[in-house]
Amino acid sequence: MAQTKKMSYDTIIRGGTVVTPGGAVRADIGIRGETIAAIADSLEASDGTAVVDATDHLVLPGVLDVHVHLELPFMGAVSADDYRTGTRAGARGGVTTVIDFAIPYAGESLNDAADNWMAKAEGKALIDYTFHICVTRWAEHKDQIEGMVKRGFPTFKEFMIYESEGWQSDDRAMFDTLEKMRDYGAMLLVHAESARVLDELIARHHTPELMAEYGARLHAMTRPNFIEAEAIQRAVAWCEVTGGPLYIVHMSTAEGTDIVRAAQARGVPVLAETCAQYLVLDDSVFAREDGHLFACCPQLKKPEDAARLWQGLRDGEVSVISTDTCTFTREQKAMWGGDWTKIPMGMPGLETLLPLSYTHGVLGGRLSLEELCMKLSTNPARIMGLYPRKGAIQVGADADLAIIHPTRTIRVDPATMETNADWSPFEGWDLAGFSRTTLSRGEVIVDDYAVVGQEGRGKWLPRTTAGLPARERAAAA
Ligand code: URP
Ligand code: ZN
Ligand code: ZN
Repeated sequence: MAQTKKMSYDTIIRGGTVVTPGGAVRADIGIRGETIAAIADSLEASDGTAVVDATDHLVLPGVLDVHVHLELPFMGAVSADDYRTGTRAGARGGVTTVIDFAIPYAGESLNDAADNWMAKAEGKALIDYTFHICVTRWAEHKDQIEGMVKRGFPTFKEFMIYESEGWQSDDRAMFDTLEKMRDYGAMLLVHAESARVLDELIARHHTPELMAEYGARLHAMTRPNFIEAEAIQRAVAWCEVTGGPLYIVHMSTAEGTDIVRAAQARGVPVLAETCAQYLVLDDSVFAREDGHLFACCPQLKKPEDAARLWQGLRDGEVSVISTDTCTFTREQKAMWGGDWTKIPMGMPGLETLLPLSYTHGVLGGRLSLEELCMKLSTNPARIMGLYPRKGAIQVGADADLAIIHPTRTIRVDPATMETNADWSPFEGWDLAGFSRTTLSRGEVIVDDYAVVGQEGRGKWLPRTTAGLPARERAAAA
């Protein structure tokens, strides 16, 4: 690496340990405009260069949370983090890009859905964003898919459950959509749970007696692991026969991880993400007095599942850690009234993604620093068609950075957080990895752990590609 480069920079990040695609190195980063212009042992500041001291800190690529739901109407409520609070929360946790899901309301086209979600984000987002497009009524939407790819949205989503929300897709829809993904260079994301058997298990347990006895524990009791595993198996079967790229969202089970691993070994173009909550929590929380707060979909599983997911992250079959942020307040969660089927499902996550993954992954000895950045930044960017602009600290990339202290912890306290949630699944946990300084396209938006950036500065990110070619699928491990 060059000792000194005589060029002018708007900002220099000085003296940190920088995690680059080649590994962690002690280096300075020179930023000009919105992008990284140089990485070198030592860079000289000129008049007007802002210098950010990163001594004794780690400089990571900004995190991409590729699975969030901001201001989502769902289960009779609207998720409580919008693009203002959600992206502020993300920035404080070192997240510099979010990908949300644009879901068409009744009668709407895929274009309408994208327009609606653009309107939610514009003027409010602090960080950059884009959307996966949800195909909820395949017969109506199937001929609109190609147009959405051309509009800059190459990732689509189908839900195998949520009939009552009007979102559910069947095998015919998945099969046909996967063929289209193959033909258009796009990728299908799938929420994999087995709807009919789940309905049956819910119906069998939905009695006043069982609800009085088990309360929120029924959420876990009605979703045994085979509910997810069977659905993943089926989605993988359609992926295998069509060759259409598939991405399993929020995978939560050991069985699902095994299925994905076996499929990848056969060359099937399937990738999988898990979420931080499935790595650090388990379903024992449902026995708590406030256990209903933890209802999310799929629900939390067992410690053995978490252990298998960590293993999958290390071995490569799990490519991404995201959050599935879908925040509901205590008041919204109280809608359950003792009936677990009425709990708005979802939890806050953006602010704690990096702290949880860093503390329990890197400090917990489960992931190296480089693996962490792969799962939080590089893989999400590559898989979602945002690389090399996003996802790695390298010359020419957007200067999206998260500067963290390697050991300093902050106690999770909803009262001091940016999220609109008045609770946190991790309340009272001491976590390292909150972002001391976050830069988005060269601009400091978090300084000394506090948000300083202006809402509305975030930009929509058009994309042209999605998924990974076979040789890169192996490299992403
Ligand atoms: O609990 C969750 N995950 N709510 C959002 C909807 C979904 O399935 O991702
Ligand atoms: Zn889902
Ligand atoms: Zn989701």
